[in-house]
Amino acid sequence: MLKGKFIVLGVTGSIAAYKACELTRLLKKRGASVQVVMTESACKFVAPLTFQILSENPVIKDMFKEPSHWEVEHVSLADKADFFVIAPCTANILAKLASGIADDMLTTTFLATKAKKVIVPAMNVNMYENPVTQRNIEILKNYGCHIMEPEEGFLACGKIGKGRFPDPEEIVEYIEKIAQMQEDLKGTKILITAGPTREYIDPIRFISNRSSGKMGYKLAEAALERGAEVALISGPVSLEPPPDLQIFHRVETAVEMKKKVDELFPWADVVIKAAAVSDYRPKYRSEHKIKKSEEEVFIELVKNPDILKELGEKKGDKILVGFAAETDIPESNAREKLLKKNLDMIVLNDVTKQGAGFEVDTNIVKILYRDGRIEEFPLLSKKEVAHLILDRIKALLKC
Ligand SMILES: Cc1cc2nc3c(=O)[nH]c(=O)nc-3n(C[C@H](O)[C@H](O)[C@H](O)COP(=O)(O)O)c2cc1C
Repeated sequence: MLKGKFIVLGVTGSIAAYKACELTRLLKKRGASVQVVMTESACKFVAPLTFQILSENPVIKDMFKEPSHWEVEHVSLADKADFFVIAPCTANILAKLASGIADDMLTTTFLATKAKKVIVPAMNVNMYENPVTQRNIEILKNYGCHIMEPEEGFLACGKIGKGRFPDPEEIVEYIEKIAQMQEDLKGTKILITAGPTREYIDPIRFISNRSSGKMGYKLAEAALERGAEVALISGPVSLEPPPDLQIFHRVETAVEMKKKVDELFPWADVVIKAAAVSDYRPKYRSEHKIKKSEEEVFIELVKNPDILKELGEKKGDKILVGFAAETDIPESNAREKLLKKNLDMIVLNDVTKQGAGFEVDTNIVKILYRDGRIEEFPLLSKKEVAHLILDRIKALLKC
């Protein structure tokens, strides 16, 4: 999997730096070219010569060294890399990367690269659990970095807890998994909808719901990582679409969303409807702001088009995935929706559970299939849920 890949391995000032020697050896054994970049602090823990011998490459550490060839080194390195791995990664480098600081060769190259990024933090348990470090990890995850969780156990500082550098063999397996994921949806066109819709009462007020769009955006991000072509149609949310997205449209109302979905439906092989589309809209939209003078105001609602049901009727051999956010008798409601709308699978989240549903970064889901099967999953990040869903879609595409 890693044969012929060009891996930049960043080593930082952690006591675990010596374990990166073994990591270098294992990556070379798998057939990868390894270019080690060390921070100044890392050089105090392990001599660059060790990495030079193991990687069969001179180690890079100084950004302002006299160039031996014409290329701007940090840019050429950043462009060449298939993977940018930082292992071990100190709390200090996590903070710099999360803030876009580029004050040495490692951080500058990291900022310039479009390679897959893998970060393996290693540090004292209190440093790791510090909310600032956790925030930095979350920021980097949201920018698409793969963060491998440190292990729990005895730490070099004498404490017991989370922060241990994992076994280098496990790190290699983690990188291989990402390398494998990278291509497995190549050539597949995935249309994703996300976020709520707004159904206007007057120019200022609207009826909407609590959907943050996070699940749909994570799906788009995960599908892009796996090589799919992705179209994202989003209701109004405060999220930035992932870079490299092929098609992106912002809409507000259910009717606008339907129009865009219908336009893109013939293009797609897979449609994932993660948007929370309002079932109803006000029958009349006042042209002017409704004044407070009335004692009572009645808003008459009419049904919005059922986008998912209409797609189900014309789906052919496309894969159609729905979401159900339910509060009562969730499973039977989701099953009814699955069959009525002719879906291949439905992802159910019981929004009454803590950590599931709207606004949060995690989800607890069950996946229901047409043949009656149900898969249940524990509390996971929305990105992990996204990959689970894509794994199942991949299996359905093969059938
Ligand atoms: C003996 C020793 C061990 C250290 N181990 C770690 C560590 O495992 N993780 C960490 O984040 N910082 C560790 N530090 C602190 C970093 O070396 C320090 O924050 C340094 O500025 C990091 O530089 P860098 O991030 O540019 O490599 C250690 C310091 C010492 C003296």
